[in-house]
Amino acid sequence: MNSFPTVDPIPLPAPVWLFKGLHIVTLSLHFITVEMMLGSLLVAVVLSFLGAGALPNTPAALRLNAAGALARRLPVLMTFVINLGVPPLLFAQVLYGRAIYTSSILIGVPWISVIVLLTVGYWLLYRFSSAIDEGRRAWWLGLLSWLIVASIAKIYSSNMTLMLRPEVWKQMYAVSAVGWNLPTGDPTLMPRWLFMMCGGLVFAGLWMIWLSTSRSQDTAVQTYLSRAGGRLALVSVVILGGIACWLVQSQPEAVRAGLGQKLGYQLAAYGWAASMGLVLLLGARAALSKHTCLWCSWGALAAGFLAALGWTIYRDGIRDLTLVQKNYDVWSRALEVNWSVVGLFLALFVAGVGLLAWLISVVMRARPVTERVVS
Ligand code: HEM
Repeated sequence: MNSFPTVDPIPLPAPVWLFKGLHIVTLSLHFITVEMMLGSLLVAVVLSFLGAGALPNTPAALRLNAAGALARRLPVLMTFVINLGVPPLLFAQVLYGRAIYTSSILIGVPWISVIVLLTVGYWLLYRFSSAIDEGRRAWWLGLLSWLIVASIAKIYSSNMTLMLRPEVWKQMYAVSAVGWNLPTGDPTLMPRWLFMMCGGLVFAGLWMIWLSTSRSQDTAVQTYLSRAGGRLALVSVVILGGIACWLVQSQPEAVRAGLGQKLGYQLAAYGWAASMGLVLLLGARAALSKHTCLWCSWGALAAGFLAALGWTIYRDGIRDLTLVQKNYDVWSRALEVNWSVVGLFLALFVAGVGLLAWLISVVMRARPVTERVVS
């Protein structure tokens, strides 16, 4: 029996490949910022705990300054997390509405509570970074914020896996029609969430390597960021590899077979693996050297983009192949293409991306200010 609602009142106004392309690009950008935030927040918490009450020119002062460099950027990072989450949410609703609306309603209470959690987590980020700048003990504020954003990630993972399990929807609704409960018993959920959480540590390592060439840091802080970031990336990439194997193994047999047969998904997996290889190289170079290097920070940027793109395409494959098994083929959606609107949309999209690139170039050319918590 097909559990998806049969109504699909509005045909898609643009080809599926176009929606998919835009979805993958925007979701990759959302994932980059989510991972940077999840990981660098946790690192900033640990460093501010270790550096609490630091005296000038001590190793503890170095840790506190590094924590400050990471924490100061978190509120801006959160802006990007939110803004880059909106476009893929719209594309996902257009492509998979009958699946994602149903799962969102079934977990209605936790799903809507994301708004409250996000507001509190965001407020705590501001408190955390300003408390570090004022030299106050702040690690617990950061830890609270991290616990909140990690639970938001868990709610997202729960919804994105529940939308693939129409066979449990009726039973969940029978248990709670109010939508109190999160789904249980899905073997793919835990590795999927842990993959995002551990990926955060890899991205935090890459982010620290990138920041180590920032002209607004002292040389000692630059070296500290580079070496610590390299070590973090090295260790976490190994754990992430293990979680990735668990994640693939937890998928149903037919999905694994489909992933192995389609060239696009294989290329995505190779791209992701290549990016992890690059992380290992960069991590080792940064961890062992006393000097920061510019090519390492550009390499970190490239590895981050490649990893996010590879994972997003592969994850898209997991979703499509799972849904096909359950009689939902996204590629056979009804179309009624409106090319003039599509053209206008694309023109505005390109203009928006151009504007963003210009804004980033202005930020990068800006005169640096020296950042320091303890001198
Ligand atoms: C602290 C804030 C946030 C965190 C930690 C977070 C984390 C995550 C994680 C971990 C996933 C992957 C879930 C999985 O597949 O296992 C995800 C997916 C997603 N997030 Fe976020 N997110 C945040 C905020 C937002 C916001 C504000 C929006 C939109 C307004 C958003 C939109 C999305 C969308 C659309 C997806 C996946 C869509 C798809 O599968 O097609 N996120 N997020």
